[in-house]
Amino acid sequence: MNRTLVIVKPDGVERSLVGEIISRFEKKGLKIVAGRLETIPKELAEKHYLEHAGKSFYSELVTFITRSPAFVMVLEGPDDTWKVVRTMMGPTNPLDASPGTIRGDFGLEIGENLVHGSDSNESAAREIEVFFPGI
Ligand code: RTP
Ligand code: MG
Repeated sequence: MNRTLVIVKPDGVERSLVGEIISRFEKKGLKIVAGRLETIPKELAEKHYLEHAGKSFYSELVTFITRSPAFVMVLEGPDDTWKVVRTMMGPTNPLDASPGTIRGDFGLEIGENLVHGSDSNESAAREIEVFFPGI
């Protein structure tokens, strides 16, 4: 089986969309193999978003992802599960996201786009190790 990291971001938890978002992944057939509600510590957020360090939106991104609890989970499914998740999330900017996707149905702002999903098998392995070392 293949695994990927998914985060319902603080905006999603604040808006009580955790159940809605998890439900979509479960109905699709993906399994939750680990999950935790937590205010992500700054050090973990910086590790997680290392690829964006130095970009114009980086400090805003770290502030956002650490501002209140997020629901961090590992989902399991067939090969390239990360891709299934990303398709269901929709593009980064909710204004580009089609209805039927999570960002298309619930989002309006690029900085508050509800959900994170790893963008490759390599990212998934790295990010799972950041949040759930050793699983
Ligand atoms: P994520 O990592 O959170 O799943 O989102 P993503 O792959 O769709 O997008 P990514 O390029 O990894 O960017 C991470 C988050 O940074 C914010 N962002 N802002 N203002 C901007 O141009 C900009 N670009 C990215 C978004 O909140 C995005 O989710
Ligand atoms: Mg990304």
